[in-house]
Amino acid sequence: MSIILLILLIGLHLTSAGPIDHWSVGNIIISKPDIRFRVDIYSPTTPGSYPVLIFLPGLAGLVPSTFYTSLVTAIAEQNVILVGISKIENIKPEKMSVHIDNFLAWAIKPKDGITRLFAEHKQVREVHANLERLAFLTHSSAAHSLGQYMNSTCGPIKLIIMMNPVDGIDPFGIVQDFITHPPTPLPFRTPALIISAGLDSVSIGQKSPACAPNNISNDRWYRSLYGPTFLINITDYGHADNLDEPYHEASKIMCKPCTGSLCHFAQYKLDEATLITSFIRAIFDRDLRQLNIIQNPQSAVQSHVSNKYDLHGYDYTSGGPGGFCTRD
Ligand SMILES: *[C@@H]1O[C@H](CO)[C@@H](O)[C@H](O)[C@H]1NC(C)=O
Ligand SMILES: *[C@@H]1O[C@H](CO)[C@@H](O)[C@H](O)[C@H]1NC(C)=O
Ligand SMILES: *[C@@H]1O[C@H](CO)[C@@H](O)[C@H](O)[C@H]1NC(C)=O
Repeated sequence: MSIILLILLIGLHLTSAGPIDHWSVGNIIISKPDIRFRVDIYSPTTPGSYPVLIFLPGLAGLVPSTFYTSLVTAIAEQNVILVGISKIENIKPEKMSVHIDNFLAWAIKPKDGITRLFAEHKQVREVHANLERLAFLTHSSAAHSLGQYMNSTCGPIKLIIMMNPVDGIDPFGIVQDFITHPPTPLPFRTPALIISAGLDSVSIGQKSPACAPNNISNDRWYRSLYGPTFLINITDYGHADNLDEPYHEASKIMCKPCTGSLCHFAQYKLDEATLITSFIRAIFDRDLRQLNIIQNPQSAVQSHVSNKYDLHGYDYTSGGPGGFCTRD
């Protein structure tokens, strides 16, 4: 009897996370032959139409999405297509925004770009990557590159999500090059979710800088964004706790991690995925139940969180305006 119940429960659990597929396409050449991307796609395989989340990982794409397998897999299992870009060869960090521009122009080309990647991969033939619902996700200092890109154009982006966003070329603030100057508004408005970690601004030792000092990170972005802007702080975790092992273990020599018995890194990554996909659904589906998760996140996640938000005058009483990006 109890075994049957157990099997039923496991069955229920499995149906809540859909089947997915991951494949990599190396050496996608955009524009000039000497500039190449590696693309990692994580997609639901159940036929249907899904929003697309472009992911620029930490250190502006030097770190591949495969260092975040648990997180990006959970995102795809929650019915969002994730397209990670990395290994952009021959770039200078300050040129990263130009490469985002090239990549997005290629990604949305009809019969080419992401549409072609899906058409050529048989496990997802009946999956439609909905490029009208395009979101952009960053980790750490990749936020700087995205901010620089959006400082001149929205392109096809309709909402943004920044995990532990840092401004500046490096996460420590050694190279001072800012795109944000709070409270001066950035020149675009788009729905934005910032997910910070409570230990972002805590250094591992007296002589070393924190991975994301607060004066160049999370709140700095929160005070520069003037669309509907949400910040969720996962208070017990650190700047690089969303990486897979062994990269996570290696990150501990630079970034303060969660320590002690309350740390549950798999749960942390699942919670982060839940917040990301809830936000995407809240905005694109104009779904008030999902929006309620973003406004009261503790109800939906097990990790401890605190949060704040500022709708900046946008009306969400009946679902809001959907995904958008406008320029002042
Ligand atoms: C961002 O855009 C503003 C104009 O809207 C411009 O004055 C500024 O120089 C740009 N910042 C950078 C770092 O390109
Ligand atoms: C997140 O929470 C931690 C711990 O409570 C706090 O020190 C930190 O300032 C918070 N970060 C933000 C961006 O609110
Ligand atoms: C941030 O704070 C640190 C330490 O107080 C300081 O050295 C640095 O100049 C500050 N950076 C900015 C951009 O305000």
